[in-house]
Amino acid sequence: MTDTVLTNARILLPDGLIHGSILIRQGVVVDVSTGPAPRDALDCDRDLILPGLVELHTDNLERHIEPRPKVDWPHRAAILAHDGELAACGITTVFDALRLGSDNDPEGELGEYARQLADDILDLRAEGALRIDHRIHLRAEVCSVTLMAELDRFGPEDGVGIVSLMDHTPGQRQFRDIDKLRAYVIGKRGLSEEGFQAKIAAEQALGERVRDSHEAATVAACRRYGATLASHDDTTAEQVMASHAFGARLAEFPTTHEAAEACRAHGIAVMMGAPNLIRGGSHSGNVAARALAEADLLDIVSSDYVPAALLMAGLMLGDLWDDLARGMATVSANPAASVGLRDRGLIAPGMRADLIRVRRLDGGARVRGTWVQGQRVG
Ligand SMILES: [Fe+2]
Repeated sequence: MTDTVLTNARILLPDGLIHGSILIRQGVVVDVSTGPAPRDALDCDRDLILPGLVELHTDNLERHIEPRPKVDWPHRAAILAHDGELAACGITTVFDALRLGSDNDPEGELGEYARQLADDILDLRAEGALRIDHRIHLRAEVCSVTLMAELDRFGPEDGVGIVSLMDHTPGQRQFRDIDKLRAYVIGKRGLSEEGFQAKIAAEQALGERVRDSHEAATVAACRRYGATLASHDDTTAEQVMASHAFGARLAEFPTTHEAAEACRAHGIAVMMGAPNLIRGGSHSGNVAARALAEADLLDIVSSDYVPAALLMAGLMLGDLWDDLARGMATVSANPAASVGLRDRGLIAPGMRADLIRVRRLDGGARVRGTWVQGQRVG
């Protein structure tokens, strides 16, 4: 395999930008320098070269397998399209979030799909058909009937990277404000007030019945798989303490300042959604990601439901903190470290050559190239 050299680039190193060249050999960065480059080097026209983005929680694949309500798109084709979209957005490692257990979110009506979709992802991966590195993130909807059976269908051989404990029961966490939930559900589904009340009552009763045993079973399954445990929508310091006791190392979308502070105190990395950051607030009325960033309580950003938001968010935080390396770390080094991936997330000799070439534009940024282990994939 021949060497690849990217030159005339503004390269983001952990302590800031340098103008120079990167030498890639056998999928790895072997040198970063400001010296002269060989003649056949790729001239990057002074574009930024940033570490490839690491996405821990995207449900973008669901949008591809169900592009319209009740439309089931062929899954392998959906995965390939999703993969191409992420590569074009500068994402080089993704944890595809697959839901276990039915969701109380009215958008989540895909039924049981995780095992089959995981098989399709793992098969395509084994065939070398995917542009970027895909891993599995199982989102366990704790208060659901099918959870236990679905957990049993996974094992250590699947290489599950993340298990998150979700509880979307009305009246707490993401949906603690019942009026906001009412507007969301009635608007989406056209339910009557009586229908809405009946749905809430049924879900709350189910939660009371299964929450504790299902939480414990999910934590045990996470250990059995060898995955990183994440909490989801923690709202109170007590909930964060419970997550800590379960062994969570990552907090997805804590909904209050109090919960984010408790995460910091317990060594749990705080992850917020890029759409929340970019839109200036949460669509369900929870704490603003920007407020956490300003309070120095934001470690990781996830694109959540908009893949292109991830790069925008990293650049935006770089501007906010006046520190591009720190901003971009929230979408590369920090997510990689939180799940124990030590070979990526930074540009440095010995690290995977997962790199993106970026030009900033008014109101956004254009990804002009994506490399995964030194191979151009977008
Ligand atoms: Fe949530």
